[in-house]
Amino acid sequence: MGNNSQSRFSSSNFFYKQFFEKILERDDGIDAEKLTQVVLNSLEKISIYRKWPAIANLLTELEKDLQRTDAKLEQTLFGCNFKNPVGLAAGFDKNGIAAAIWNNFGFGFVELGTVTWHAQLGNTRPRLFRLAKEKAALNRMGFNNRGAAKMKETLLKQKISPPGSRSSIIGLNFGKSKITSLEHAPDDYASSLEMLGSFADYAVINVSSPNTPGLRQLQDSTQLRRLIKKLRRLASCPPLLVKIAPDLEDREIDDLAKVAYEEGLAGIIAVNTSLDRFGLEKRIVLQTGKPLGIEKGGLSGKPLRPRAIEVLRRLRKNAGKDLPLIGVGGIDSPESAWERITAGASLIQVYTGWIFQGPILVPQILEGLISQLNRHGCRSIAEAVGSELPWK
Ligand SMILES: Cc1cc2nc3c(=O)[nH]c(=O)nc-3n(C[C@H](O)[C@H](O)[C@H](O)COP(=O)(O)O)c2cc1C
Repeated sequence: MGNNSQSRFSSSNFFYKQFFEKILERDDGIDAEKLTQVVLNSLEKISIYRKWPAIANLLTELEKDLQRTDAKLEQTLFGCNFKNPVGLAAGFDKNGIAAAIWNNFGFGFVELGTVTWHAQLGNTRPRLFRLAKEKAALNRMGFNNRGAAKMKETLLKQKISPPGSRSSIIGLNFGKSKITSLEHAPDDYASSLEMLGSFADYAVINVSSPNTPGLRQLQDSTQLRRLIKKLRRLASCPPLLVKIAPDLEDREIDDLAKVAYEEGLAGIIAVNTSLDRFGLEKRIVLQTGKPLGIEKGGLSGKPLRPRAIEVLRRLRKNAGKDLPLIGVGGIDSPESAWERITAGASLIQVYTGWIFQGPILVPQILEGLISQLNRHGCRSIAEAVGSELPWK
């Protein structure tokens, strides 16, 4: 990246380096969940008071620093106009507290949630662990969230206007409440979607979190079809996507691709966190003193990248060339973003990489994508999707 672009990143990156870099380069120190909570509490206030002059100025500066616009990055997918292909993955803003300001961070879209019908506390703490050296995280949060009704209140408080009348794209990610049985799961998802569907540009059926007992069984074709059919019947149902796990067998991935195609889903998001430890089984989690091999939870970040790519390629091969795929898992650089897009993802999402690299990651990725498109002579990002063009 040239000097010009480096200097344009200066203020947000300076702030990030001052406050977060030192904390994030170690496993110990400030607890990962506490740190997230402190950030979210500030963002919640900023989003509510975003029209106040001092805060409006701050957000304008942030946007100047982090947003990159270029017609080549734009795409229309399942009826939504994406200004760029980089989104914030589900799980960071579980309650939608900063829904109104994520576009100021340069994102082309944000996925809020996972939200469940019932408010729930999630698993006992500690339940989120930094693995600094590996640029990874282990989490067993267990869908801690304030519930669908409270999310609605939160979105109304921020005056989020309906899809189509705002420039940002907001996806909502739905999960099953822990107290609801698998048999009654479709009703549970449907209640949440009925309450919140009118806010969403797209909705995600999350059947892939490893931290809600039994949830992943809903990836089974018969169960998933039943769930999709139930949600489809709702008047407020936006384009529906399903988010899948990286730990599926090839046959299961192929079945899911078939279900998505046959049921006319808007897309598939691949992947959620993994139960695999990718060779890190013996790595000790500092806070518990136990190795990763016996710790419960899902692994995210850099070690997930090869498997996430494999799953995406398999889906691309089997889901038909027109089904939009969203690639997520271990994306932490322009190269890894380009790799995911050229392997078949129309859109990508970041979480763990964004935490470790800081907000600068988004403009870095966008600038990297623009330069690759130019070098390869592509007129738009859509031309690069699934092209297997190398990074050059
Ligand atoms: C702390 C944490 C919480 C998460 N919560 C959710 C969630 O509520 N719903 C969901 O679909 N995915 C959730 N995820 C998974 C991410 O959205 C993403 O699929 C996964 O972390 C892989 O991307 P990454 O390697 O960029 O982090 C969570 C991930 C982390 C690290």
